[in-house]
Amino acid sequence: MTKILEMYKCNVCGNIIEVVLPGEGELVCCGQAMEKLQEHNKREEMVGEKHVPVIENTDEGIKVKVGSIPHPMEKEHYIMFIEVNSNDKRFVKRKYLYSQEEPVLNLKCSCDKVIARELCNIHGLWTSDDEQS
Ligand SMILES: [Fe+2]
Repeated sequence: MTKILEMYKCNVCGNIIEVVLPGEGELVCCGQAMEKLQEHNKREEMVGEKHVPVIENTDEGIKVKVGSIPHPMEKEHYIMFIEVNSNDKRFVKRKYLYSQEEPVLNLKCSCDKVIARELCNIHGLWTSDDEQS
C-alpha cells in the first residue's frame, strides 16, 4: 500500500509521480513496477552536506536552501524542486527549479512545524532531518 506524499519513478521513461491519496494497487509505468524514491538524510549519506534542505526562520516565514554547502545548478546536475510539507501533511508547497537558478524557496507562513524535501536529478530525494519548531 502506498502512503501520502511518497514518490515513485519509472526506470524506463523517467516519469516521477507523487501519491496524493494512497491506495492498495501497485504503481506501474511502461509495463514495470515503479521504484519508490527513498528519502535520504544527512545521517545516512556522505554527500548530504550538498543535499539536505536547511530551514531558516525569516521575518515573514521560512527560507529553505539546499545544502549547507551550495549544490551545483548545472544543466547536467541540478536540484529539480524544493518542497515544504507541514508536519501533519495537510499543506504542501513546491517550487520547481531550472539549472543556473539559486536553489532557495522563500515561504510566507506561520507554520509551526515543517519538513522540507528536495529532488536532485542525480542523487535523488532528500529530506530535512528534523522538523522546524
Ligand atoms: Fe546532487
